[in-house]
Formats: sequence, C-alpha cells, structure tokens
Amino acid sequence: MKQNGATKVTFYHSPQIPLELHKVRIVQKLHLKPVDERVEAIKKGGFNTFLLNTEDIFLDMLTDSGTNAMSDNQLSSMMHADDAYAGSQSYYRLEKAVQEIFGTRYFLPVHQGRAAENIISQVFIKKGDVIPMNYHFTTTKAHMELNGGAVHEIFADEALKIKSTHPFKGNIDAEKFNSLINQYGAEKIPFVRFEASTNLIGGQPFSLANMKMVKSIADAHNIMIVLDASLIGENAWFIKQREPEYANATIKDILNEMCSLADIIYFSSRKLSSTRGGGICTHSKDLYLKMRDLIPLYEGFLTYGGISVREIEAMAVGFYETTDETVINQSPSFVAYAVDELDKLGIPVITPAGALGCHVDAMGFLPHIPQAEYPAGALAAALFIASGCRGMERGTISSVRDENGDDLLADMELLRLAFPRRVFTLSQTMFLIDRIKWLFDNRDLVGGLRFVEEPPVLRFFMGRLEPVSDWPEKLAEKFKSDFGDSL
Ligand code: F0G
Repeated sequence: MKQNGATKVTFYHSPQIPLELHKVRIVQKLHLKPVDERVEAIKKGGFNTFLLNTEDIFLDMLTDSGTNAMSDNQLSSMMHADDAYAGSQSYYRLEKAVQEIFGTRYFLPVHQGRAAENIISQVFIKKGDVIPMNYHFTTTKAHMELNGGAVHEIFADEALKIKSTHPFKGNIDAEKFNSLINQYGAEKIPFVRFEASTNLIGGQPFSLANMKMVKSIADAHNIMIVLDASLIGENAWFIKQREPEYANATIKDILNEMCSLADIIYFSSRKLSSTRGGGICTHSKDLYLKMRDLIPLYEGFLTYGGISVREIEAMAVGFYETTDETVINQSPSFVAYAVDELDKLGIPVITPAGALGCHVDAMGFLPHIPQAEYPAGALAAALFIASGCRGMERGTISSVRDENGDDLLADMELLRLAFPRRVFTLSQTMFLIDRIKWLFDNRDLVGGLRFVEEPPVLRFFMGRLEPVSDWPEKLAEKFKSDFGDSL
C-alpha cells in the first residue's frame, strides 16, 4: 500500500514504525494494578468493560470517542469562547469551519452523534421504511428502529472476511442495493446510509468510486444519501492512500468531494474534531428547514445545540486540523502497527488495518467458546485480567434478541482496541501486543460469559454478566506462575 508523500518518513536502520510529528506537553499518570486486583475489578464491573472504573485501568482502549488528545491550538481557542445563549461568535466560527471543510451551506449543531441520528430518524423515517447501509452503528440502528424503520446491510461480501487485502471493505454492493429497491420499491427507502470508516466491521473505509456509483443508482430512484461522517477524516486519508486517482489530492479536496455526494451529513464530533459535540450539515435549504425546529426542542438553541461554547471553539479548530495528514494519520498508523505485529504472531485480527482501532477476531482467538457464550465479551474481560488494558466487545452482546427472546448472533465477534488520536506511545502499544500474545498462548483457560442483568435496549452499555466457570481465577493463577510479582 502506498505511503503518502507528505507524511512518509523512511527509517535507514530501524524497522518502520509510526512516527509522531508532535510533542507531548501535558501528561496524565496511569495505574497498572496487580492481576488479583484486576480480577476483582472486572467482577465488580459485571464482566462488562463499560462498568470498569478508570482507576483500575492501565491503557483505556474502550473508544476514541471523547478521548482523542487535544492540541495546544484547540485548548487556547477555548479561552476566547463567547458565552451567549443565542448568536454566539463561537458558533459562527464553527459554522464557517464546517462550511469550509465539508463544503455544505447549512449546519445544525447537536450535543453528540446519536442526537443527530434521533433528529434524522424522526424527520425522515416512517413505519415500514427500509434503510440500506454499508453497516449500521449501534445507536444508529436503535434510533431507526424506534421510528419504525428496518436496517438492511448491503455491504460487499468481502466486508465480513477477517483476513483480506481488499482496500475498501466499507463499500456498498450495488447489486444488493438494486435488488432491495426492486423488492421494496424506492418510496419505502427514505435514504441510503454510508458510514465513513465503518465502525462495527473494523473501521473499514469506502472508496469515492463506490460512493459515486451508489449515488447514480440513488439519484435514478430519488433516494437521498446520508453520510455518517464521524470518522470521515480517516476514510479520506485511506482514499488518498488506497485509491490511485486521489493519491495527489489534498485531504480537504477529498472531504469536499465526499460531502458533495451526500444530501445530509452528520457526525459525532467526539470522534471527528474534538471531545464533545456533533452536527448535521446539508446543501439543501429544504432539508435544513425540515430538521431545524427539532434542534431547540431536543438540543438547545440553534447557535449552541447543547454544546458548551468552549467545546464549540475546539470543534472549529479541530475541523481544520482534521485536514492535516500528520494529525489524521496518527490513529491509522498505530492501528496498522498493532495489526501487522499481531498478524505476524498468528493472532487473528481484521486485515487490512482500518481506522479507530485494532479488531481482534474473538471466534478465531477462542474457537472453543460458543457464540451464545459471548466470545468477544469473554476476550475483553480476559485481556483486562492479563494486561489492565480495556477494550470493547463488538459482537453478540452489542446485538439484540429476536421476538422469541433468542440472541441475534452478530456477524462478527470482535474485541475492539481503540487507538485514540495521539494518546498512546509505541512502548505502550508493544506492551499491549506482548500481553495479547501471552493470552493467545493461554487461550484454552478462557471460558464464556452469561447475562445476570440484561437491559432491553442497548444492553451492552449497562448489562452485567458472570463467567460460566471459575476461569478468571485460573487465568490469574497462570499469570502469576508465568510473571511472578510482575505487573
Ligand atoms: N456514528 C458512528 C459511526 C459512531 O462511531 C458513533 C459513536 C456514533 C455515530 C454516535 O456518536 O457517541 O457522539 O453519540 N461511536 C462511539 C464508539 C461511541 O465508541 O465507537 P455519539
């Protein structure tokens, strides 16, 4: 795969590693606790990594949402924030940044990504509608279903292959799109949704060629394109790396072109440009007016949308920084390093490396655990015991039950280890890889999980589980016999 000219640094003697073009000026102390305390912590957290206390965590790789490092320019911009309920200067700076980077005319601020999903779903989805997409995100699907819609995944078959060299596993399959239109009729399809750097299938990007092709089908049937741009910077960076036509384009040009193909663009700014906030953008006054009046109802006045003015300033600066390749390549470069090293060790990970995080294939890692005993959740708990590192289950626990109360088994059972931008170092990444290798060599000791408390909606957030046997204690015993009193 081609490296980008502007950001490529080739090593003369050392192996190729990700190189940071920034320095660290504020740090936070971390704690790595003994293995017995890690077992106690995961028990207390109901074997759900969402319920851990960061006091017990070494590397917090749960998510990149709200945890990317801020730049000096973002922090200093917060000092000139303009506190006002209506008409704040901070808002107009953000609106200008969004217009410039996305090339869209109209902007509505919301407090975070799922708030945008709520508004778009309420305005455009009716009972019985069908919404095709390259892959859903958890909160997206929940909002669409709440409004009576049904999600249809129309990704290319390659998307679900763990090992692949396909550069764009986030592409939409045109044939599946056409047959869905034939089956349901275009009037039942309010929009087709593209998600940049498709989160739940390993941060995999789509190509601009694919987006153009899908748009030509959508246009022929009067179907809108909605783009989830939460990870659009990384998707644009992958387009530059992997789609030859764009090798010499700037990230800003690619972002502009992606957004020009969508009718509505929404994002979580917690991932995209800052640590809070979100927004909805469109080129169309008509679409803007359809959504506008819900902003004061659910979010706040149109010039703050539930976001603090300080964060609005940081969002604006973050938008410009998203177009800087030395910023936007940070998470993908560390992900690529981790994925390549794990792959060399024979550990099953999603390839090619994508955005956001390294995704370990739990069914390949723990083939002895049936899917009904949640292998990805078990792997997340086991890795926490082995390393103090917190990842996130992205498998059947993050799915739902059907009308008979049976688990809808997820397409993939993944442990996601997120690399928030500019947060972790290479030595910390090497520690993580070392402990994953130890766990892989001792994988037979890991057992499954079962629910003891299961909320009916988005159960992965607050649900509590227990191990099906005393495997956590056995794993900790083996850790102590191999590592002695080492952490
Ligand atoms: N869309 C995508 C693609 C996301 O990844 C997220 C959040 C959202 C929408 C919702 O945005 O959290 O600001 O309300 N992803 C986080 C994650 C939670 O950990 O991947 P939000």
